[in-house]
Amino acid sequence: MPSHNYFTSSIGKKQITAITGLGLVGFTAAHLAGNLLILVGADAFNAYGHGLISNPLIYVAEAILLAMFVTHIVMAALVTIQNTAARGKRYYIKNRSGHGETIASMTMPYTGIIMLVFIILHLINFKYGAHYETTVDGVVMRDLFKLVVEYFSNPLYVAWYVFAMIALGLHVGHGLQSSLQTWGLNHPSYTPKVKMISVAYGVLVAIGYSGLAVYCYFLN
Ligand code: HEM
Repeated sequence: MPSHNYFTSSIGKKQITAITGLGLVGFTAAHLAGNLLILVGADAFNAYGHGLISNPLIYVAEAILLAMFVTHIVMAALVTIQNTAARGKRYYIKNRSGHGETIASMTMPYTGIIMLVFIILHLINFKYGAHYETTVDGVVMRDLFKLVVEYFSNPLYVAWYVFAMIALGLHVGHGLQSSLQTWGLNHPSYTPKVKMISVAYGVLVAIGYSGLAVYCYFLN
């Protein structure tokens, strides 16, 4: 049972970072699946977006999503600050061994910051971007397809997305395995498989989202 100081304890903060991270991994999968409807066509993508935003439960889902993002960022930042401080003290006694560290694990705070900048710009450009309208099967709805395709007509934005999606892939590829280990999925026989699946998922989201940006560029 978590004690009263669970939220300030080191393990508490790690577990909260891990569980919110897993929730956000779920979001990356759902959002990518929805965005793949861009490949089907404008009507399919717009009808899907319209279905989502006209469901009253969207406000609950958005509140949960925002809470997960904020909690994940705050807890991860606190863990990072705490670890850096602890490492600073230990440094005089023993150098870091470097064992088990990868580019993805060492760059987690940086790829995390890139994602934060990405999401703020992403919401400004898409969620709060231009309101084009279209009609699908007699229903008037927001033309998000037009907005997305127009946005990616600029090759600089496509390049920024590819860069940010590589950061996302690295962040999620390490974060997923790390979260699962924090929650106890740590055993010699399946740890290598968990690592492999996590890295594969990171590669999948990086290629999936970047591929869509490049695809939209060529629709122009
Ligand atoms: C090719 C890549 C992407 C495309 C085309 C895309 C498209 C969109 C669009 C059109 C919206 C607005 C939906 C609406 O207002 O109804 C949206 C919202 C959003 N996107 Fe993306 N997205 C992409 C990648 C990402 C990535 C990588 C993330 C984060 C990991 C992300 C996070 C979000 C969030 C948090 C929202 C707001 C959801 C809400 O408030 O309901 N997106 N995206």
